[in-house]
Amino acid sequence: MATGTGFVVEWRDGFKVGVSQVDAEHRHLFTLVKALSLDNVQDTLNELLDYVVTHFTNEQELMDHSGYPGFREHLVLHENFSAQVADFLASNSEWDEDRIMELRRFLNKWLVGHILTHDLRFGRWYLDQERSAAIQAAATGNRKVGWFDRLLGRG
Ligand code: FEO
Repeated sequence: MATGTGFVVEWRDGFKVGVSQVDAEHRHLFTLVKALSLDNVQDTLNELLDYVVTHFTNEQELMDHSGYPGFREHLVLHENFSAQVADFLASNSEWDEDRIMELRRFLNKWLVGHILTHDLRFGRWYLDQERSAAIQAAATGNRKVGWFDRLLGRG
């Protein structure tokens, strides 16, 4: 939605993918995009891009460590986003209200589209895995097999 100060999309619960760490990071990204203004553009943009790297790294680790089958494809989406931002900034044009609004529009649009399609797909898969693991743990009496059990041939 457009406001008097430019294009701003507010975070809402409908953007949640169900993985608390990922949701908290997405929320912070929206806050930083919203904070972009002509007065603070360089500092806020640095903070935002730094946080994007943090978020992508954390999300990718979660995907990689959990064995998410769509991990490679997702990685490419993150890389494409980084290339698009680099393109946008490469023009080195002077910052003005229009350029800030264009950046915000691009960032919000990309974030909403990416979260509601690709991150949500991961969130659903991740929660399914958690549910399956919980069911399996309940079915096996939640007995953890340690080195001692294995030593005694009980694992
Ligand atoms: Fe939350 Fe795939 O970025």
